[in-house]
Amino acid sequence: MTNKNQDNKMEKIVSLCKRRGFVFPSSEIYDGFSAVYDLGPYGVELANNIKNAWWRAMTQFRDDVVGLDSAIFMSPKIWEASGHVKGFSDPLTECKKCHSRLRLDSLLEDAGIFADEKMSEDEINEIFDKNKDKIKCPNCGAKDFTPGKKFNLLVQSNLGNFTGDWSKEPTYLRGETCQGIYVNYKNVLDSARVKVPFGIAQIGKAFRNEITARQFIFRTREFEQMEMQYFIKPDTQEKYYNEWKETRWKFYLDLGIKEKNLKWHKHENLVFYAKEAYDIEYNYPFGFKELEGVHARGDYDLSQHSKHSGQDLSYFDVTSGEKFVPHIVETSAGVGRTFLAILSEAYTEEGEGDGARIVLKISPKLAPIKIAIFPLLKNKPELVKKAKDIFDELKLIWKCEFDDNGNIGKRYRRQDEIGTPYCLTVDFDSLENESVTIRDRDTMVQERIDIKNLVSYFKDKIEK
Ligand code: GAP
Repeated sequence: MTNKNQDNKMEKIVSLCKRRGFVFPSSEIYDGFSAVYDLGPYGVELANNIKNAWWRAMTQFRDDVVGLDSAIFMSPKIWEASGHVKGFSDPLTECKKCHSRLRLDSLLEDAGIFADEKMSEDEINEIFDKNKDKIKCPNCGAKDFTPGKKFNLLVQSNLGNFTGDWSKEPTYLRGETCQGIYVNYKNVLDSARVKVPFGIAQIGKAFRNEITARQFIFRTREFEQMEMQYFIKPDTQEKYYNEWKETRWKFYLDLGIKEKNLKWHKHENLVFYAKEAYDIEYNYPFGFKELEGVHARGDYDLSQHSKHSGQDLSYFDVTSGEKFVPHIVETSAGVGRTFLAILSEAYTEEGEGDGARIVLKISPKLAPIKIAIFPLLKNKPELVKKAKDIFDELKLIWKCEFDDNGNIGKRYRRQDEIGTPYCLTVDFDSLENESVTIRDRDTMVQERIDIKNLVSYFKDKIEK
């Protein structure tokens, strides 16, 4: 892509997502609903494939991590114990002219001034005061703001609240999925025959009252996390922390992300629970930004829940006779951010004039549709029947699409835009010699394959 094309790559991805049924803005027919998105037919396939790849890597290819699916609603005491009720906030400022509410760290960052949402209120206000003349409201251009104030991100709900007084009976939609893991740690320990070191993995929705919604699905108020908490002996943190950093880095390479588009970012200002924290950043069209956090959380979580619940959450090691509160190494990834990274990586424009095409070069493992099956002509029943028979056989193994609409060139272009790695065409020769044409998305090279060999051919290509 030329530089000019790179500049508006994000707009092009957003447009493709809508046009081709990957992502729709929420509640569109009612003028939309800020910072929430819906997944369309191909988006849900891509997201499921991402989640499956993560789930398999965590719980199937290892024997030391088990799965969990805890509820979104939990006792509000959990959020007190975890520190979220007091400490889970971003710095908020208001433009005195147009009254836009803005995230102060993002405003500073946009003006090229380093700031971090994890800084204290005083720290960030000091930087803000020193740089006031450089900061403009993105909505009206004014330079007059209220001082930064920490704004709590937990989303409240009225579940089980019958007085209507939220300060007396608060309930929350979970702000991160891992709290459900900590409070079930003892249940898993007692039921799943696991021994420290072991992990619990969970995929699920989380909710945050994000102040500013930006960059499409990168920062939303409802999103999905893929989190794994690894419970370890206190003196083994460095070993497991480094191992998990390496494992998580490799995961993204296996999904087809180029190493040059990934980098580590070390957190200097740590959130309240962390002992050490690194982010894996991806080079999105708007620059390198957090894709996943790998955190050493020490014994903070289990100690807090032990203290607040009155339950003993320590672990007894039968071989050494030691009793300790396990420390935790956490890996925490966002489904939406991985989705956007995969699309950014895959989005390609090629050729010119009539030969121009947009193609999503997504790894076959993640592609929403693996094989598109076409009869060459719609009005030739014998071609349609043969193509349908092949579709009926292959759909039992892979997500396939049958398409007999329009000319073949148009059908190829459509499949290119949704990232289908293989298109299979049944033509007149197929009726004579039981073979079909397979066209490769990336090289556009076509080869002839016997129908009886299709399953082994695709197994090799899609599942390698
Ligand atoms: N349990 C630790 C935790 O939640 P985090 O850094 O706040 O840590 C982890 O979030 C991951 O969740 C991020 O790296 C990102 O992928 C995803 N995430 C967080 N907030 C998000 C949001 N508002 N929209 C989309 N994804 C988000």
